[in-house]
Amino acid sequence: MNTIDKSKPVLVTGANGYVASWLVKKLLSDGITVHAAVRDPKNEGKINHLKAMAEQSPGKIKFFAADLLKPNSYTTAMDGCEVVFHTASPFTTDFKDPQKELIDPAVKGTANVLESANQVPSVKRVVVTSSCAAIYTDAIDTVNAPGGKLTEAIWNNTASLDYQPYSYSKTLAEKKAWELAKAQDQWSLVTINPSFVMGPALNPKYTTSESLNVLKMLGGGDMKMGAPKMGVGVVDVRDVAEAHFQAAYNPNAQGRYITSAHNSNFLEMGTSLLPKYGNQFPLPKRALPKWLMMLVGPMTSPLFTRKFIRNNVNVPWNADNSKIKNELGIQFRPLQETMEDSFQAMIDEGLLKPKK
Ligand SMILES: NC(=O)c1ccc[n+]([C@@H]2O[C@H](COP(=O)([O-])OP(=O)(O)OC[C@H]3O[C@@H](n4cnc5c(N)ncnc54)[C@H](OP(=O)(O)O)[C@@H]3O)[C@@H](O)[C@H]2O)c1
Repeated sequence: MNTIDKSKPVLVTGANGYVASWLVKKLLSDGITVHAAVRDPKNEGKINHLKAMAEQSPGKIKFFAADLLKPNSYTTAMDGCEVVFHTASPFTTDFKDPQKELIDPAVKGTANVLESANQVPSVKRVVVTSSCAAIYTDAIDTVNAPGGKLTEAIWNNTASLDYQPYSYSKTLAEKKAWELAKAQDQWSLVTINPSFVMGPALNPKYTTSESLNVLKMLGGGDMKMGAPKMGVGVVDVRDVAEAHFQAAYNPNAQGRYITSAHNSNFLEMGTSLLPKYGNQFPLPKRALPKWLMMLVGPMTSPLFTRKFIRNNVNVPWNADNSKIKNELGIQFRPLQETMEDSFQAMIDEGLLKPKK
């Protein structure tokens, strides 16, 4: 039975991130004291939105400097906390050395945070932000899954250091988390495994999450000739924050949770914006043919290899999200609301500008 005391502080690693900022907002509005671990608490642009939130909420915030690659970096920030939310991990497609820039911070960072939890006796529950990327690499993996859909029983066995290393980093990091959880009995582990996260960013100018790059591509005209019908799951960042909250405080929470609202694709994400923004922005209206993607894709991005295009374009994506709905009572927002709110947040910050 989970007996988490809401009067005790909680640690959020990577507290300034896109996903974590919404979690911090939820915790503060519930009156909880947040120990916010960030790489650089002196970087005002990255944390001012969190300070402003705390001023308008019953909860309090305290900042700590910490780095995933520095052993024991999170121990002080964890002191007195019953819950540790470990969200920090690089989410980028802009890397040169995947081992150093993705795998090491994800895996060594997870070990670092969870080993600190072993040294801090107040810790009872650890919630790790994993990903559906720890379950699958390509949309074709969902088609080939038992019953044609992803479930919490499945582990990604197709990503590697050379192919989709971000997915590999999330797989290795979550495996490390379960290994460390099973080696002790002081705290219990719950993982939240979101699909592709969309929804309004609370600090878009300073957010480097890959989620925002997709919005920039959709609104900036990169897909005006068409968008690939590339199968992907989508979930709202506000629902992901609620899932983390429930993972900590709901007594039913246990194991992994696929946190995905919609079995969708990039074309559908783009066309959902047409009714409200179609006149002002060069949004995609049709599917980019797969043969064209095969021809030009490899020239546009190192990620769009022929293998990737073959395994994802015109391939449906399917995941079973019943566990989180049944056990944690999560209700997901409609895709159109998520997409419109994401896009509007970018416009409001001047990051997307309408056609003149
Ligand atoms: N967005 C999605 O679609 C999605 C889907 C599934 C899972 N996730 C997971 O959600 C989590 C948050 O991602 P996000 O989308 O919110 O991205 P984000 O905004 O880039 O947040 C990543 C956070 O990790 C921190 N970080 C990176 N390297 C670090 C290091 N070496 N030491 C300390 N902190 C470090 C970043 O700090 P700085 O600001 O200092 O760089 C930032 O706070 C990640 O675990 C990601 O894998 C995201």
